[in-house]
Amino acid sequence: MGLRTWAEIDLEAIRHNLAELKRLAGGRMVAAAVKADAYGHGAVPVSKAIEDMVDFLLTATVDEAVELQDAGIKKPILVLGIPLDQDELEEAIRRDIRFNLAHKEILKMAAEAASKLGKKALVHMEIDTGMTRTGFDLDEAVDVLQQIGENSWIELEGVFTHFATADVDLDFARTQLERFKNNIVPIVRQNFPNAIIHAANSAAIVHLPEAVFDMVRPGISIYGLPPDPKMEGEMGFLKPAMSLKTRVLQVREIPKGVGISYGLTFKSDRPMKIATLAIGYGDGYPRILSNKAHFLIHGKAAPIRGVVCMDLTMVDVTEVPNVRVGDVAVAIGRDGKAEITATQLAVQAKTINYEIVTRVGIRAKRIYKFPKESDWTQRSEGKG
Ligand SMILES: Cc1ncc(COP(=O)(O)O)c(C=O)c1O
Repeated sequence: MGLRTWAEIDLEAIRHNLAELKRLAGGRMVAAAVKADAYGHGAVPVSKAIEDMVDFLLTATVDEAVELQDAGIKKPILVLGIPLDQDELEEAIRRDIRFNLAHKEILKMAAEAASKLGKKALVHMEIDTGMTRTGFDLDEAVDVLQQIGENSWIELEGVFTHFATADVDLDFARTQLERFKNNIVPIVRQNFPNAIIHAANSAAIVHLPEAVFDMVRPGISIYGLPPDPKMEGEMGFLKPAMSLKTRVLQVREIPKGVGISYGLTFKSDRPMKIATLAIGYGDGYPRILSNKAHFLIHGKAAPIRGVVCMDLTMVDVTEVPNVRVGDVAVAIGRDGKAEITATQLAVQAKTINYEIVTRVGIRAKRIYKFPKESDWTQRSEGKG
C-alpha cells in the first residue's frame, strides 16, 4: 500500500544535532528529552538511535518510561513529570525508573513505596526557581534536603531546576540561575557529592554556559529546531529531523467565482487549478493555517485555499505545472530548492514549533532513515 500522509524522520540528523549539542555542553552528561513520543518523532526509534550517545532519557510519565524499557532500552530513564499515585511510584521503583521529587507528599509516598518493596527510590529533586510549575520552593528545599539525607529509602541521584525564559529573557533566566547557584548548589555539593546537578534546556545550553553544571537536558534542538524563531541564526548547525508529506488525491479546474471548502471562505477570483491533498487537522495539520500557509509541490509553493478540513486540504496549483493525482505535497521539509520549516508554520499558526511537530497525528506513518542507511525504511516501531 502506498503512503498517503507520512512523516520522514532522519535519525542521522538527530545524532548530528546531539553531537553538536554535546560539543556545546563541553562534554558534560546529556539527558535527552524523548517525552511526548519524542516530540512527535517516535520515542522508541529515536531512543534506540541515540541510546549510545546519552546518559539519561527523559520522559514525562511513568507509562512513557515503561514503553521504552519494554522496547529494550537500557539507559536510565528520568520521568520529569510527577508520578500520579502509589501504583505509579511502585512501578517506577521496581523498574529503577527515576522520577521527579517535586513536593513533600511525593517524598512521603516514595519512601513508603520503597520500604514496602524493600528497594530504594532513585529520585531527582526539582527546585522551582521561577518557573512556577513543579518543584520545591527555595525556602523549603533546604529543609527537605536534610530530610532526604536522613531517609535510607530515598537515593538523591540528581537535583535540578528548569528555566522559564532562557530563549527570550536572559535577565530572568540569570535570576533563576543565581537563585539555584546561591541557595541550592553549595548544599548539594557538600552533602550529596555524587548528586548530578542539571538545569539547561536547549536554549540555556546556547545562552547560559554557566547553567551547564553536570548534565544538560536538550529537547527541541535534538530534533533540529530552535527553541525560538529568534535563535535560528545562532543555532545554524541544526538539521531538522522531521519532514511531513502527503499526496494529491484530486486535481480540478474551477471557473472564477467558485467558493472552496466549508464556509466557502475562499472564492476564486479567476479560473484556477485546485489540488485536494490527503491531509487535514486529523493528521495534526493546524486548521488555523486555513488560507494562510502553503505546501510545496514539484518544488513550488501551492497556497492553501479555503479551510483545512479534518482529512483534506485544498491548495492552489494554477502556477504549478503538471500536477497529477499521487504527486507528493510537502507540508514541512524540503522540495528542490524550496523549504518549509516547522518554525515557519508555527509563526503562521501563532504557536511554537514544539507544538507543530508534537501534534503530528498517529495517522501519519513515521518512516525512518537510520544511521548508515541511505534509504527510508518503514518500520513498525513506535507509534503511527
Ligand atoms: C524539565 C524539562 N527539561 C528539559 C526540557 C527540554 O526543553 P527544550 O525542548 O526546550 O530543550 C523540558 C521540555 O519541556 C522540560 O520540561
